[in-house]
Amino acid sequence: MASNGQKVVLITGCSSGIGLRIAVMLAKDKKKQYHVIATMRDLKRKDKLVEAAGDTYGQTLTLQTLDVCSDESVRQCISSVKDRHIDVLINNAGISLVGPLESIGMDEMKKVFETNFFGMVRMIKEVMPDMKRRRGGHIIVVSSVMGLQGVVFNDIYAASKFAVEGFCESMAVQLLKFNITVSMIEPGPVHTELEVKMVEEMSKKEFPGSDPETVHYFKNIYLPSSIDIFETLGQTPDDIARCTKKVIEAPHPCFHNMTNPLYTPIVALKYADETGGLSVHAFYHMLFNLGSLMHVAMNVLKCITCGCLRGRTVTPS
Ligand SMILES: NC(=O)c1ccc[n+]([C@@H]2O[C@H](COP(=O)([O-])OP(=O)(O)OC[C@H]3O[C@@H](n4cnc5c(N)ncnc54)[C@H](OP(=O)(O)O)[C@@H]3O)[C@@H](O)[C@H]2O)c1
Ligand SMILES: *[C@@H]1O[C@H](CO)[C@@H](O)[C@H](O)[C@H]1NC(C)=O
Ligand SMILES: *[C@@H]1O[C@H](CO)[C@@H](O)[C@H](O)[C@H]1NC(C)=O
Repeated sequence: MASNGQKVVLITGCSSGIGLRIAVMLAKDKKKQYHVIATMRDLKRKDKLVEAAGDTYGQTLTLQTLDVCSDESVRQCISSVKDRHIDVLINNAGISLVGPLESIGMDEMKKVFETNFFGMVRMIKEVMPDMKRRRGGHIIVVSSVMGLQGVVFNDIYAASKFAVEGFCESMAVQLLKFNITVSMIEPGPVHTELEVKMVEEMSKKEFPGSDPETVHYFKNIYLPSSIDIFETLGQTPDDIARCTKKVIEAPHPCFHNMTNPLYTPIVALKYADETGGLSVHAFYHMLFNLGSLMHVAMNVLKCITCGCLRGRTVTPS
């Protein structure tokens, strides 16, 4: 399907959110530089993508089934690609998990690792031998700032993204020898439909197995400040897609790519103190001692940033 000179880009998890926007943005490239193979585990959920792709559908964008949790599905999908030739692999499929640990079953935790970590490993393992043979390729992984800095009540999700970062940091060295580049995309909060649903669900949910004090911290302290952070610092899936396109087109792509510059100081804090005390205590004070102050700070930030961050999508009243 790809015409001469077009780069073949395969993306996982394109039914919604970031994956969908990356697929559509690359397919609509003015110079038609890309042939996008947009994949999703359930083709019944294809309508949003097909609609957003418009007349690129069937042209620069084609659709394939791929479940990152299934060996068989990954093998079948990659084998269906002409000459198994993929120039850019974008590992985007992922699930999130938040809440008090005592209320989360081991199976639920394993599912997060199965998708976010082993799903990515399965993809890279399948595509890597062909990239090595061709001495070329770009592997992009949608990680998270939570792959660099842990966040309270996101314990399992952050751990899965740390695993992703550790794996890729190790692989990048070997792959460089074969002229294969690895790049991490590290978004902070991104507005997707799931975020709204998650907050609604969490504020109603009981948390069996967790003590009332922990549930109080989660529902009445963590959740409200998390909503503030999303409203103030949240980016759109299109912001992440734009950043990803830049990384694909960079002559020398970086390994780390934090999409939200406001998070750079948070990660810097971690490397500024090798004992780790600074990070742990800074987060502790932010959450438990400065709760109301943080609310004020967020509102100030909201005013300062509304012109550049929110102004693009929201008309200030
Ligand atoms: N939203 C944020 O704030 C944020 C921040 C940092 C990083 N990220 C990362 O960005 C990536 C995309 O997330 P998103 O925010 O765009 O959320 P999303 O809208 O829920 O998209 C996730 C996508 O992954 C797919 N998926 C889940 N399990 C899969 C599997 N086994 N095989 C194939 N696809 C599967 C989902 O498909 P179904 O429709 O079939 O469920 C969906 O298309 C994730 O890796 C996430 O960790 C998100
Ligand atoms: C390395 O890969 C790039 C892009 O994938 C390609 O243009 C270049 O020719 C490759 N270099 C070698 C030495 O194979
Ligand atoms: C991420 O990639 C872009 C484009 O290559 C680059 O401008 C940026 O500096 C990179 N790194 C970070 C940490 O954002």
